[in-house]
Amino acid sequence: MNPLGTIIPLPKHDDPRGNLTVAEGGTHIPFEIARAYWLTDVPGGECRGGHAHRKCRSFIVAANGSFDVTLDNGERRETYHLNHPWEGLLVETGLWRTLDDFSSGAVCMVLASEPYEEEDYIREYEDFLNYVKKEG
Ligand code: TYD
Repeated sequence: MNPLGTIIPLPKHDDPRGNLTVAEGGTHIPFEIARAYWLTDVPGGECRGGHAHRKCRSFIVAANGSFDVTLDNGERRETYHLNHPWEGLLVETGLWRTLDDFSSGAVCMVLASEPYEEEDYIREYEDFLNYVKKEG
């Protein structure tokens, strides 16, 4: 059974002055990066996400701290614990994702293949189940 997401390690340049990690679109992650956004100051117990994309691919990095990403393809769910800034989770289209269990000070950085477009979102779980049934 194929995993729903893919953890991709990134080149990390260890340095006594501080470590540097790089993600180049088309090289380290398999799409060109059209947009970056990040979540900060998530209160303990809060949940983010809760949607799927028709077209947009995402690469999710715990730039600081940790959190869980749960992916759902309408048939099964997998949870990924992200806690290293030198790797990320590739999330393909058509997957329902929720993010929770944020540590204090966690920073969730998302690199996306598309500009922001509300029409690309599926925000109701029932609609998502209908969408995957139709696409599958
Ligand atoms: P939302 O998609 O609900 O957040 P999440 O799913 O990560 O919990 O987005 C929250 C708000 O931010 C919503 O009003 C849309 C806006 N937004 C943008 O304007 N541009 C973006 O790139 C993103 C991701 C969100």
